Amino acid sequence: MAIVINGKAIAQSIRDDLTVKVTKLKEKGITPTLAVILVGEDPASLSYITGKEKALAQTGMESRERRLPADSSEAQLLQLIAGFNTDPSIHGILVQLPLPAHINTERVICAIDPAKDVDGFHPMSVGNAVLDRAGFIPCTPQGIVVLLQESQIPIAGADLVIVGRSNLVGKPLANLLSRRSLNATVTLCHTGTRDLAAHTRRADILIAAIGKPRFITADMVRSGAVVVDVGVNRVPDIHAKNGYRLCGDVDYEPVGEKASHITPVPGGVGPLTITMLLKNVIDAAAALAET
Ligand code: GUN
Repeated sequence: MAIVINGKAIAQSIRDDLTVKVTKLKEKGITPTLAVILVGEDPASLSYITGKEKALAQTGMESRERRLPADSSEAQLLQLIAGFNTDPSIHGILVQLPLPAHINTERVICAIDPAKDVDGFHPMSVGNAVLDRAGFIPCTPQGIVVLLQESQIPIAGADLVIVGRSNLVGKPLANLLSRRSLNATVTLCHTGTRDLAAHTRRADILIAAIGKPRFITADMVRSGAVVVDVGVNRVPDIHAKNGYRLCGDVDYEPVGEKASHITPVPGGVGPLTITMLLKNVIDAAAALAET
């Protein structure tokens, strides 16, 4: 049986340290503040931003939430972002994705001041990350690295296979883990990969970021591998009080029989993602205070 990596506990110990940093900034008159923008009423997005705002409050930080109706224009959203860009009391700006189809996500991301881009999605942040320069790194990839490090899993030299090439997770994670400072041998698999299982079975560390429930089955995993499940899928469940339950991209129980370590869903990667957002907001506030 695999060791279940307790993301919640790891996240909490990091948040304790972050709370100390927030207290120090507050002593200098700075309260790290995140602007959170949600367009529409997607229930999953709503639940994500609530979780983020709660974590900010618990760490002593503030959030300023703005909700726009689903039929808002792109111009309205861009105007809101422009206001936050020039507001000195706002240190970070987060536009919850996905956006409604009539809004151009790329234009919206590009409108955020890179100094407040705590999601690390702006092309300037992406470029800085690829070049290993200072800048914001997306929260989920950063959280996965911390989760592995805090669990004492060797990364340097590991055969590390990522399934899924999204801009939010797969691509930035592949870049981060192949940095000299982390030194993993990274394979990035996607829908065009031939014989996917041949790749996943080679992995010392397998990271599933596909967005399909239970996609990674036990036959795709090598005995003793470390399995990180990034998926958060809502699957119908008549026994659950809200009619659904959360399920990862990994077929959890059978894969848990084979793996050496596995992350649960929920309670694995998710708490670390939010924790890295907290860290990025604190870094943004500290950097803006110095300018
Ligand atoms: N939607 C899913 N994950 C994220 C995230 O990390 N940031 C934002 N802004 N939207 C998301």
